[in-house]
Amino acid sequence: MNDKKITSNKNNGNFQTRLSKFYKELKIEGDSDFYLSLKPVVKWAGGKRGLLEKYSQHFPKKFNKYFEPFFGGGAIFFHLFSLGKITEAKISDINEELINLHKIVKTEVENLIEELSDNEKYKNDKDVFKTIRADEPKDPVLRAARMIYLNRTCYNGLYRVNKQGKFNVPFGRYPDNIQILNAENLRNVSKCLQSVEITAEDFEVSVKGAKEGDFVYFDPPYIPLTDTAYFTDYTSEGFGIKEQERLAKVFKDLDERGCYVMESNSNVPKIAELYEGFEIKNVHAKRFISSDPNGRGGVLESLIIN
Ligand SMILES: C[S@@+](CC[C@H](N)C(=O)[O-])C[C@H]1O[C@@H](n2cnc3c(N)ncnc32)[C@H](O)[C@@H]1O
Repeated sequence: MNDKKITSNKNNGNFQTRLSKFYKELKIEGDSDFYLSLKPVVKWAGGKRGLLEKYSQHFPKKFNKYFEPFFGGGAIFFHLFSLGKITEAKISDINEELINLHKIVKTEVENLIEELSDNEKYKNDKDVFKTIRADEPKDPVLRAARMIYLNRTCYNGLYRVNKQGKFNVPFGRYPDNIQILNAENLRNVSKCLQSVEITAEDFEVSVKGAKEGDFVYFDPPYIPLTDTAYFTDYTSEGFGIKEQERLAKVFKDLDERGCYVMESNSNVPKIAELYEGFEIKNVHAKRFISSDPNGRGGVLESLIIN
């Protein structure tokens, strides 16, 4: 590895000491002058970076394996890993492009960086965007590069596909010089992922192996605040009310197995019904990504804890 230096911060002595110990435990090359500052590889709708402080008092102090089955950008995972709290983990998501990207960051980070270093091919320009959006490469490194490029340059960093499975978010019109490639963060994330199991699968399958003392954090697509059809439409694809009920069952089952379980969801009466008997905290959240320009203000969300 040629980037022995991660990120130095002279004002953060305790943090460095903890991380230095952590590196030794994980046998990651590093020394006490450096600490790890990991950022998600993609920005993702519902990302939890803005809630880390509010959540921190609710994380279990110690746990065995960490599971995050609705990974998205993985803000909570990267936060806990940076604090040295994660020693063993499994991360997953149903989105195969997102999981391919994280697998490539883990196993072929230098090839990915080399590919994204082509500033002409990956230029923040509407025509280039349309070409890359229409192109669907088979090679996993090219797919990962495309995913990062589209995430940086599309409208609000959204991920949405049409019925044919084609990515259909429009161009984002950001300043020409936005950063598409953050090689330092990709290399740091790659190191972090070396000991992590990464799978593209459904949440219920993902947590089958969770045992007593493990910590499972769920961040599913939220129950909508207003859509009444959501509660009656049993035929809709995607994450409808049946999926929310299935998730609540899995939550209960993990609780009975002796896992620490935490879930973020919206603040609607259905949550109190589904999670009766569990602690439900109201958390004030600021939304960073929303297709609704009025949705950028604060909203109350639920944090369910066992
Ligand atoms: C709200 S986002 C997660 C945000 C993430 N925690 C973050 O910090 O960026 C929800 C994620 O759930 C995934 N998802 C939807 N249905 C799923 C399922 N049945 N099993 C696993 N993941 C699913 C979506 O692909 C999406 O990435």
